[in-house]
Amino acid sequence: MESPFKGDILKGKVALLTGGGSGIGYEISVQLGKHGASIAVMGRRKNVVDAAAAALRSQGIKAVGLVGDVRKQDDAVRVLESTVKEFGKLDILVNAAAGNFLVPAEDLSPNGFRTVIDIDSVGTFTMCREALKYLKKGGTGKDSSSGGVIINISATLHYTATWYQIHVSAAKAAVDSITRSLALEWGTDYDIRVNGIAPGPINDTTGANKLVPEGLSVETEPLFKLGEKWDIAMAALYLASDAGKYINGTTMVVDGGLWLSRPRHLSKEAVKQLSRAVEKRSRDAPVGIPKSKL
Ligand code: COA
Repeated sequence: MESPFKGDILKGKVALLTGGGSGIGYEISVQLGKHGASIAVMGRRKNVVDAAAAALRSQGIKAVGLVGDVRKQDDAVRVLESTVKEFGKLDILVNAAAGNFLVPAEDLSPNGFRTVIDIDSVGTFTMCREALKYLKKGGTGKDSSSGGVIINISATLHYTATWYQIHVSAAKAAVDSITRSLALEWGTDYDIRVNGIAPGPINDTTGANKLVPEGLSVETEPLFKLGEKWDIAMAALYLASDAGKYINGTTMVVDGGLWLSRPRHLSKEAVKQLSRAVEKRSRDAPVGIPKSKL
């Protein structure tokens, strides 16, 4: 689908994406690149980041693949240094690296719980922390007119509770909290905007394959369809560009309204009839009779 944004809204910007070699992260890389940004893709597997960077370059995007694990602080430092060495500065950090698997809480080991917290929550914090000196107003390679942008990919799992996702729900709750704290502190001190995106189930992603292996019944979806990676990338473009210049500390839910959805327990017609009948009974009731007795 064509982007509704102008092709140069990120002209001259430099973006680093953790988990940018596949899935949602890759599609964000493509769209940020197509709108003018140079792209550094970070991931654990060399073949994946190299292939992603080559695919980006084949679309006319300046791109480099960098191997690193967000759980390792040294990797974060090295990848950020390499990004700035390659492109001169850093304007946009997208934390899209995530770990996930379905598991009943009673079968999850503390190390399994910790592993996901380490990737999603601690990894996000580590990348933000090490990126600060580049992203802040007047930071390395940047002028003093404005700071950069951070986008943390979150989820909606923890808004209520989600079966077999205790670890990821806790990890993403922490990510949302990190988003707000950094938006407050770094928005005030360094002119850095920090926001999140909470995708619903997105077609053709590792997340969807792992988490809804039997597929989702789209009939329970308010918009009656699954999301596309493109939907998330458009939200990222909005937040990364000047379109989002007054947005700081929010996590944008991009799920078609799914997390709000509940099965319909009455037909619309039944509701109309019922509410009319109730109103009529209240109107006709003699004064003084409690409504509960009507
Ligand atoms: N069920 C229960 N426990 C599991 C599990 C599963 N399906 N998969 C991993 N674990 C546990 C392991 O048993 C281990 O705990 P233990 O030492 O107590 O046995 C712990 O998690 C670490 O597993 P390990 O395989 O060593 O971690 P890893 O660093 O190689 O992999 C994962 C990290 C587990 C998150 C892996 O799924 C991953 O790399 N995911 C990245 C891609 C991804 O999930 N993307 C989806 C985005 S939505």
